[in-house]
Parts: sequence; C-alpha cells; structure tokens
Amino acid sequence: MNRVCEALGIEKPFIQGAMSWITNAEFVAAVSNAGGLGILGPNAGQTELTPDPVETAERMRREIRKTREMTEKPFAVTLIGNGNSTSVFTMKILDVVIEEKVPVVLINSYGFPGMLGIDKDLLKPLKENKIKMVVRSILPSVEDAKVVEEQGADVYVATGFDEGGTLPPRIIGSFSILPMIKDAIHIPICLAGGIADVRTANAAFVLGAEGIYVGTRLLCTDECPVAPNVKELIARSGATDLEIFRVAPSYYRSLPTKLRDKLMENEHSLNRDQTYEANKKLMGGTGGMRIGMLEGDLENGYVSVGNGVSLFDKIMPVKDVVDELLSGYNEGMIKFS
Ligand SMILES: Cc1cc2nc3c(=O)[nH]c(=O)nc-3n(C[C@H](O)[C@H](O)[C@H](O)COP(=O)(O)O)c2cc1C
Repeated sequence: MNRVCEALGIEKPFIQGAMSWITNAEFVAAVSNAGGLGILGPNAGQTELTPDPVETAERMRREIRKTREMTEKPFAVTLIGNGNSTSVFTMKILDVVIEEKVPVVLINSYGFPGMLGIDKDLLKPLKENKIKMVVRSILPSVEDAKVVEEQGADVYVATGFDEGGTLPPRIIGSFSILPMIKDAIHIPICLAGGIADVRTANAAFVLGAEGIYVGTRLLCTDECPVAPNVKELIARSGATDLEIFRVAPSYYRSLPTKLRDKLMENEHSLNRDQTYEANKKLMGGTGGMRIGMLEGDLENGYVSVGNGVSLFDKIMPVKDVVDELLSGYNEGMIKFS
C-alpha cells in the first residue's frame, strides 16, 4: 500500500494544500470524500479576522464540527509553528484539535536555520495524543527534513518554488527540491508546487514522491470558496501573467490586480529591506488574499497562484480534479529514487 495513504488513513495519495482564507468545511470534506486528505487552513470558513485567540480557536472548532457532518473520512487542521515559541493562537487551536479528536495535523513550520523542525510545544502533545503529523516547512532543506524525520513526523512535504501562496525563500524548483530531500530521509515525501495536471502529478511520483500536495489547481473547483470572478480569471490565466514581488521573509506571485501594480512599483523602485517594509504594509498580512480571492475585489486585493496555473482551464468538481490528477498513478510506475 502507498505509505502516505497508510500513514494518514486515506485512499488516494492526494493532499489538498492548506490555504489561508480559502478553505471551509464544504471544500475540505469534498477532498476527503474524494479519497484524499482535506486540510482546514488558517481562518477556515471565515470572512474576517478576530484578534482574540480563544474566538479564533472556537471558530475552528465550529468548522471542524461542520466538516465532520459532511464526511466520515480523515481530514486535517493547520497548526502554524513559528520556529521558536509557538503563538498563543496556535496553542489554542491545538487544544481544540485534541479535544475534537482531529486525526491529522498539517504543521506549517519555518525551516529557517536555528528554527528547524517541529516546535517542541506542539510535538509533545501531538505525540501524546497520537495525532498524525504532516510537516511542510516554508524553507525546505535536507537539514530541516532530517530533524522532522528524527522528531517522528509521518509525512514531509517538499515545496518547490513553483507553488502558490508564500514562496520558499530559496529559489529551488519542484524538480530539484524533491530528489534532494528524497535522498536524505526515509519517511514518505509529498511534493508541493506546480502539480496541476496528470503530467505534473506523474512526474512527482516518478521522482520519488509518494503523494501530491495541491493548491492552485483546486482553486478552480465548484466547492472552493474563491469568488466566481476569480475562478474565471484563474481558469483563463497562465504562468506568464504572474508577477513576483518580495514580502518578508520571502516572495509572492499574483495575477494582475491594482494592488499587485503597487506591490510591483515598490519591487522596482526600492531596495530589498525597503520593499519588505512597504509591501508588508500594503499586503496587510494575508488580508490582501482574502480581499482579492474571497471577495473577488481585483482593485484592493491580490490573486496568489502558482506556475501550474497554465495547465488547466476548467472549473470542475473536486472529485474530478483528484481523479484526473491521479489517473496516471499506479504503485508499479517506474521510479527514480
Ligand atoms: C491562495 C493560496 C494560499 C495559501 N495559503 C497557505 C497557508 O495559509 N498556509 C500554508 O501552509 N500554505 C499555503 N499555501 C500553499 C499551499 O498549501 C501549497 O503548498 C501550494 O498551493 C502548492 O503549490 P501549488 O499551488 O502549485 O499547487 C497557499 C497557496 C495558495 C495558492
């Protein structure tokens, strides 16, 4: 049996990427019902932020319960580790995950030098409660992957620079990062970044991935809460429509919007540190993603997608996307690993 499926109790080696603002119970349950692993991301099911950590965690509890009403299959919740001492928001969500007996977590760790692996505050309670750990570091590396393996994680997600969302601070493409990490660790690895059709999915498996971790392609699905005008924009766009700009500690890409033009102006006219500062203010954290992608406001928000955006042009049910991407997969396929 495929080791990712075995470790996570799922039928198909397909994980839906955690996406700020852009997940909710319906979307996550659709992925899990299709046989993959759905993940409730930061602010799942929400349309506005609350500054209160308890309310943040209670909102996640409500979304977990809603998801449970829609699927009996395993799904996950995102925990953001900041590499040092984990935030009070994350710790409150961890309590809810344990109380609600969520079987799997996606740990969004840092991976920066001096901050490798899973935060200690998360590790102990997760292990004590036998919760499965999928770890995706913002800055993937051999050193980070080895620490994560040593800590007892179940699955490591190697992320290539082709992805959507916050880009890895080192510019290493998906085809390079996967074999690099694969050679260093023994736990199963999923590849994130640029997997958006059957060819790219097959390529990931042939290079040694045991699962695919997909964000951009799932934005154009019936169940995804992205605004309809943005789904249409994504479906008709390609990688050459994307521009890249810096926001500390890394980079983002966006399809054309008014806000993107302003972010690019800073990118072209300021030095690195000034750009970090100016763009941080303009982006408002992931607020610009909510405005652009959930509300569909292409003046004041941005539209974050990966390079795989060239590879599809249809809005489809989640199940059809999962099945299409896995249509070339079989456990006997030739692997270079
Ligand atoms: C709109 C958007 C928002 C994202 N937000 C998050 C996030 O909050 N946390 C996270 O770990 N990854 C986030 N990601 C990254 C995805 O989880 C995943 O790694 C990525 O989408 C995979 O690459 P792909 O987009 O090429 O499929 C986001 C991606 C997108 C497209």
